[in-house]
Amino acid sequence: MITSTSAFPLIFSLIFVIPHVYAQTAASLAYTPQSVTCPDVTQFIRLAGSGQNQTLSPQELNYLTSRRNGTLPGAWQTYLNNVQGAASSQGVALPDYVTSILNGSTSSTDLPTLGIAVSGGGYRAATFSAAFLNSLDARNGAAAGFGTGGLLQAATYLVGSSAGSWVVGSLSQAGFPTMSDLVVGPGSPPSSNTTNTTTFGDWGGWTTQFGFLNPSPVNSQDVQSQYYQTVLSEISGKAQAGFPVSFADLWSRVLARHFVNGTNATNFFDFVNATNSTQQPHGAGALWSGLTSVSTFQTNQQPFPIIVVDSLSSSQSNGQSNSPTIVPLTNTIYEFNPFEMGSYDPTLSAFIPTSLLGSTPNSSGANGQTVNGTNGANGANGTSSGNGQAGVGGNGGIGTPGEPANGQNVTGADGANGTSTTGGSGGTSGNGTCVTGYDQTSFVMSLSSNLFNALNQTSGQLSDSVLGPVVPFLNNSFQNSPSDFLPGYIPNSFQGVAAGSFPDSQSPQLTLVDGDEDGEFVPFQPLLVAARNVDVIFASDASSQTPDNYPNGTALINAAARAQAYPDSYTFPPVPSSADDIVSSGFNLRPVFFGCGSADNGTSTTTPTNDTSPTNGTTSTNSTTPASGTPIPPLVIYLPNMALPNDIALTNSSTFQDTLLPASVQAILTQANSIVTRGFINSSFALQAQSTNPTVASDPMWPVCLACAVTDRARARQGLPRDGVCSTCLQQYCFS
Ligand SMILES: *[C@@H]1O[C@H](CO)[C@@H](O)[C@H](O)[C@H]1NC(C)=O
Ligand SMILES: *[C@@H]1O[C@H](CO)[C@@H](O)[C@H](O)[C@H]1NC(C)=O
Ligand SMILES: *[C@@H]1O[C@H](CO)[C@@H](O)[C@H](O)[C@H]1NC(C)=O
Ligand SMILES: *[C@@H]1O[C@H](CO)[C@@H](O)[C@H](O)[C@H]1NC(C)=O
Ligand SMILES: *[C@@H]1O[C@H](CO)[C@@H](O)[C@H](O)[C@H]1NC(C)=O
Ligand SMILES: *[C@@H]1O[C@H](CO)[C@@H](O)[C@H](O)[C@H]1NC(C)=O
Ligand SMILES: *[C@@H]1O[C@H](CO)[C@@H](O)[C@H](O)[C@H]1NC(C)=O
Ligand SMILES: *[C@@H]1O[C@H](CO)[C@@H](O)[C@H](O)[C@H]1NC(C)=O
Ligand SMILES: *[C@@H]1O[C@H](CO)[C@@H](O)[C@H](O)[C@H]1NC(C)=O
Ligand SMILES: *[C@@H]1O[C@H](CO)[C@@H](O)[C@H](O)[C@H]1NC(C)=O
Ligand SMILES: *[C@@H]1O[C@H](CO)[C@@H](O)[C@H](O)[C@H]1NC(C)=O
Ligand SMILES: *[C@@H]1O[C@H](CO)[C@@H](O)[C@H](O)[C@H]1NC(C)=O
Repeated sequence: MITSTSAFPLIFSLIFVIPHVYAQTAASLAYTPQSVTCPDVTQFIRLAGSGQNQTLSPQELNYLTSRRNGTLPGAWQTYLNNVQGAASSQGVALPDYVTSILNGSTSSTDLPTLGIAVSGGGYRAATFSAAFLNSLDARNGAAAGFGTGGLLQAATYLVGSSAGSWVVGSLSQAGFPTMSDLVVGPGSPPSSNTTNTTTFGDWGGWTTQFGFLNPSPVNSQDVQSQYYQTVLSEISGKAQAGFPVSFADLWSRVLARHFVNGTNATNFFDFVNATNSTQQPHGAGALWSGLTSVSTFQTNQQPFPIIVVDSLSSSQSNGQSNSPTIVPLTNTIYEFNPFEMGSYDPTLSAFIPTSLLGSTPNSSGANGQTVNGTNGANGANGTSSGNGQAGVGGNGGIGTPGEPANGQNVTGADGANGTSTTGGSGGTSGNGTCVTGYDQTSFVMSLSSNLFNALNQTSGQLSDSVLGPVVPFLNNSFQNSPSDFLPGYIPNSFQGVAAGSFPDSQSPQLTLVDGDEDGEFVPFQPLLVAARNVDVIFASDASSQTPDNYPNGTALINAAARAQAYPDSYTFPPVPSSADDIVSSGFNLRPVFFGCGSADNGTSTTTPTNDTSPTNGTTSTNSTTPASGTPIPPLVIYLPNMALPNDIALTNSSTFQDTLLPASVQAILTQANSIVTRGFINSSFALQAQSTNPTVASDPMWPVCLACAVTDRARARQGLPRDGVCSTCLQQYCFS
């Protein structure tokens, strides 16, 4: 448990790197945030409202509107064509409402709003999620033929936490390539037929063959040393500029070499001691707010990308006595999208522009001084014939207008009076100093996946941990204890905001950690925001709770518990009451739909049954139909990473796996693909799976059933009953 939080307010000034390898390389310059004159700071903090009345940023709304208008109708049509192929090959017909919803003939505004969420869990989760997304990708011929391809293009949101942030972040910044190109890099160098040469270089793949922390086990001493000196040199500029720098920055520069443009197998090992002209910036300077200039983002072709980060707080209540997690569930969850950073949690419900991350213009410190308009200059004395020119009051910062200029009276023989104008109005901008360049893409991914504060925290124990190779450099470079230097820090833009409820309202900086440390291993939270109107969440869970690194459904339990802690803001469908129930029901070994009974009232539809459970130990926390007016939770399609007994278990490597050789990557992707495409057969499936001689078969109806789930909320909005194959499907796959 993190409990020694009382010293946090001091960290702002204490955390720094001893810049013994300081070099003004392209990378260190590009990684150093810049102080700039603030743009219009009356818009700096956006208060997002409360409860069901929260609002989205105008930029997000604009993106979604354009995407819904221009991109999604075609994407859903492509998906529909694929599903229809799957249905006809099974000799079944899709209910008419499924067809009319997906082809937009009902109403183009009633297309489903689909959110995809991918969990953390190191390379295990990243590769599993890549296979998962590949199975939904219209560009994947196998997925198109199978009948699941197209959902990725049709999704409105794509959310990742921890290693899920690597998938979401690398995919978005690389311009939304295919999963194969994403993971292993483009087969051939990208064409030079681009009007703009990109600043950050081309996408080179995840370069999994080079370890994160142990990039070169062979010949390690020398190479590791140069590697870490290079990485430290890259963050030394940020430290020297006075920003709080911690292990999260080192991790950021490591991750940049895997998940940001500019690194490939050829240039991976170019060190600070190489000549300046050959050392690459390795993604330094690539900004999360800069995603907006990636062409597939500009044309609204990407699902809107969001990365989730957890926080520690000196005011947190460590109430979860039996939790294996170290961040209480109710701690603030921050989201980073290309436009905004902040939280929809009702305790804060405020955002800043992502591009101004690290800015504190309204604080009473050095930044953010109120500046009144300057007085207008006095008018010149009139010449013998003309009027004196009036001075113009200067524009001030936030504050009062400048005084009017005084026209001097004429002193010339028969001169005119000087004219005067009023002083300039107090500016709404120019209010002190802001920061840009803090939102490095790799830093946002680092914050989301920086779970190292969960390790034992003495230097000696760290040496025995996965951080072993780095510890000598950490010891030489950071002056604090590991518990202080391991989390990530950002100057707190939200000082003074929501003082009654936001625990960090008085903190000078935010202390940020891995987005999975609160136990919501699948990042559901951004998709529960009422204003996003998400109909259905497709959740890929490759987190690890069992001894052999599979999930046991804790992500669902915690998501439901967190929603219940903030009932005015979030609703989540009924789920079993414990992870034990999930496991005993076999819900960790098959896809399950949650919330099938939450949208219809009355008896117009088939009621989902819980009889898919092979045991009777399952209890629902709440399976009653909501009263009208109650917010309807999204339908959740839960897809756990799993191994059935006659699977070769390949998708369960440790969260701390450092390196993946190309052959392993391919084998894992293949295995994961078979997991995410097989569905499940019937209620005896889980028991069969647990028997000594299991029969593991795929459900050929899985793609059809998926379409039933994806369209189910849009169906309920039209007041139509479930019909045909969808009645069967939902009974088979639904828990609640
Ligand atoms: C939302 O807005 C409506 C109408 O303005 C108001 O009646 C309601 O109380 C608000 N709810 C919350 C939670 O703020
Ligand atoms: C919607 O798209 C059509 C063409 O696809 C375009 O003419 C129209 O202006 C768009 N409307 C909005 C609101 O973007
Ligand atoms: C790797 O990136 C460098 C630029 O740093 C580029 O010149 C080279 O062609 C790339 N190599 C491959 C195989 O793409
Ligand atoms: C360059 O790209 C454009 C648009 O994709 C294409 O029309 C054009 O033929 C390409 N030119 C060459 C030389 O490949
Ligand atoms: C090229 O890059 C500049 C600067 O980022 C941008 O303003 C311009 O629109 C880009 N041009 C094209 C054709 O993408
Ligand atoms: C990354 O490289 C790809 C080409 O491989 C390009 O399309 C994309 O725009 C680049 N992203 C950034 C942020 O420069
Ligand atoms: C880099 O070069 C400097 C000066 O030549 C040398 O002192 C230092 O040991 C070198 N660092 C590495 C990691 O080789
Ligand atoms: C890179 O070039 C700059 C300016 O010429 C120089 O100050 C710096 O020491 C060089 N860095 C390295 C690692 O050679
Ligand atoms: C700005 O003007 C207001 C009202 O005239 C005054 O109270 C305040 O002290 C001024 N602030 C500064 C920084 O001059
Ligand atoms: C205007 O005339 C007055 C009186 O002669 C003199 O004091 C003042 O400096 C003059 N101002 C300018 C701007 O010339
Ligand atoms: C300027 O002239 C006007 C009108 O003649 C007079 O009211 C005013 O007091 C004079 N101002 C000064 C500064 O002499
Ligand atoms: C100077 O200004 C005053 C007040 O507006 C006006 O009455 C007077 O005629 C002006 N004098 C000349 C010479 O323009």
